[in-house]
Amino acid sequence: MPSIEPLVSLRDVHLSFGANPVLKGIDLEVLRGQAVSIIGPSGSGKSTILRCITGLLQPQRGSIRVGQTQVDTLAQEAQRIELRKRVGFVFQQYNLFPHLSVLENLVIAPRKVLGRNRTDAENDARALLAKVRMEHKADAYPGQLSGGQQQRVAIARALAMRPELILFDEVTSALDPETVGEVLTVIRELTEEGMTCVLVTHEMRFAEEISDVVYFTEHGVIVEHGSAAQIFQNPASERTQTFLRHALGDSGRRGPVAHDPYLLTHLSRYSLSV
Ligand SMILES: Nc1ncnc2c1ncn2[C@@H]1O[C@H](COP(=O)(O)OP(=O)(O)OP(=O)(O)O)[C@@H](O)[C@H]1O
Ligand SMILES: [Mg+2]
Repeated sequence: MPSIEPLVSLRDVHLSFGANPVLKGIDLEVLRGQAVSIIGPSGSGKSTILRCITGLLQPQRGSIRVGQTQVDTLAQEAQRIELRKRVGFVFQQYNLFPHLSVLENLVIAPRKVLGRNRTDAENDARALLAKVRMEHKADAYPGQLSGGQQQRVAIARALAMRPELILFDEVTSALDPETVGEVLTVIRELTEEGMTCVLVTHEMRFAEEISDVVYFTEHGVIVEHGSAAQIFQNPASERTQTFLRHALGDSGRRGPVAHDPYLLTHLSRYSLSV
């Protein structure tokens, strides 16, 4: 059971890029062990929220807390680096080190940042590669892998830091449809094991299936949030309804939730103009 004190808490977060207000009072909470999805149209501020949580961006107003760390007031880069040891971040572009083998990609940060010894770091790395079903590619280089395989390595690399929380920002949107399912399967398993996750995703069925809580954003505000069932089956806001109708196909009808990774590869991936 998740504890009551949220692991992540955003309160009235406002952020502008120059004269462009991008976040206009975001409130968001993530309990330990929860999978929380953020969905919404392009440009609504989803990635900006994740970047605020990691301290990559500093809001002009509001409070952001991760565990005991007050992220919005961190003044020094060293403090932000400490935070990023605890918060894994997986992006659309996997950003593996191309000149390092898969195994070395997983070993380098635990050794250099956490000071772990090589044997322990390698043992951990191999176990994590097995977890994402990539142990047979430990000695390959990223350029020799498919996009889906690279993304699974990127997830294992984030896990190698033993983070308290992992943020996923549209990690499947650059992938070939055939490899989307294998990455979603890995994420699903992590959430089932109780890893605290925040996902920005365009994979609506997947968000519906795995999320404890779903936030719908538009124009820098949270339009509504609630359980996956609430948001997907009975959204309160007309904006959410319209968005989901576009995202899930014109009929807006819901099929059965898919558990088959191969089915998931073919599920609706919206391109929005709402
Ligand atoms: N570094 C930046 N400098 C200036 N404007 C930015 C910057 N990053 C994002 N923005 C703007 O902030 C707004 C929100 O961007 P953000 O990337 O958070 O949207 P998003 O919801 O993640 O969209 P998408 O679904 O397309 O990834 C956009 O209007 C974007 O142009
Ligand atoms: Mg984004």
